[in-house]
Amino acid sequence: GAAELGPYRHYMQKEIFEQPRAVADTLEGVQAVVPELFGDGAYRMFKEVDSILILACGTSYYAGCTAKYWLEGIAKIPTQVEIASEYRYRETVPSPGTLVVTISQSGETADTLAALRHAQSLGMTKTLTVCNVATSAMVRECKLAYITRAGVEIGVASTKAFTTQLAGLFLLTLALAQVKGRLTEEQEAQHLKAMRHLPAALSAVLALEPQIINWAEHFADKEHALFLGRGLHYPIALEGALKLKEITYIHAEAYAAGELKHGPLALVTSEMPVVTVAPNDTLLEKLKSNMQEVRARGGVLYVLADADSRIESEDGIHVIRMPEHYGPLSPMLHVVPLQLLAYHTACARGTDVDKPRNLAKSVTVE
Ligand code: G6P
Repeated sequence: GAAELGPYRHYMQKEIFEQPRAVADTLEGVQAVVPELFGDGAYRMFKEVDSILILACGTSYYAGCTAKYWLEGIAKIPTQVEIASEYRYRETVPSPGTLVVTISQSGETADTLAALRHAQSLGMTKTLTVCNVATSAMVRECKLAYITRAGVEIGVASTKAFTTQLAGLFLLTLALAQVKGRLTEEQEAQHLKAMRHLPAALSAVLALEPQIINWAEHFADKEHALFLGRGLHYPIALEGALKLKEITYIHAEAYAAGELKHGPLALVTSEMPVVTVAPNDTLLEKLKSNMQEVRARGGVLYVLADADSRIESEDGIHVIRMPEHYGPLSPMLHVVPLQLLAYHTACARGTDVDKPRNLAKSVTVE
């Protein structure tokens, strides 16, 4: 009811603004990186793991896609991410050294549970879930678990569940990296420090809301949008596009920016805004040339730039500068303006934000 919503118009907006608290709660009690954060026997299991298979649906799948970059980049463990409904019906090559990681807000998504059971039936007994509901089937059926503490999520479009999943998955990366001896104490301390600062960093990003409202006004009358990202931020572009289509019904697609020339560039006109997630990483220069390609075709760019990326607003290029550069955890911050963009565009279009047509919060039947 209205009392619960406080100053917010919708649950989705409230949940977006709860993210600093949700991430803080999810990391509460984490004094140090220890495998036992994931349950008894985690150390022994992590020691034996030689690869990872992540299974999930929807937004949780995009959390998995983001985690792949961490697990391979930091823990150096080969990682596959697969949509649960694909994996469960596909012939695969099972391996007993694989850690099967399911990601689920509800812990009851039918396809994700079925994919887990399928993996188990193939002899994969090392199972771990990152889940928001401690009493769920997913937590019961996995040997290890990290319970995120997003709190109850009511908006059908997932927001705080996603960022807390990423927090849990980053911790998992650090724990695995530690067990595998791939992290110096100093690196571990630095990552932990960055994690502890996340609630403050998220609050600073939320303060960009007025600028996002301004962008949303430009999106409200569009029928198509394109999202571009590279590397670690490619899954964030995918999640941004998903949020937009779920609640505004604008057709949105995300592309790895390097694929622009291989198709979507043909669609670019002044009527199709192009959102670009552009942190100041090693791929920035490449991304800038992708942006030129869009401009040359009359496309209008909406750029989420880093504090220190030298991209300025000009004709056809709208830039919002992120408050700080955030290294490997940067996806957790860059997703927030995209959540707000979808939210405010939906408000401008007058759609039912918390209950979008045809969608359910939890898909417990096939
Ligand atoms: C539905 C929800 C999404 C969610 C997905 C997976 O599609 O609308 O927000 O990401 O299910 O749900 P889960 O509970 O497994 O994370």
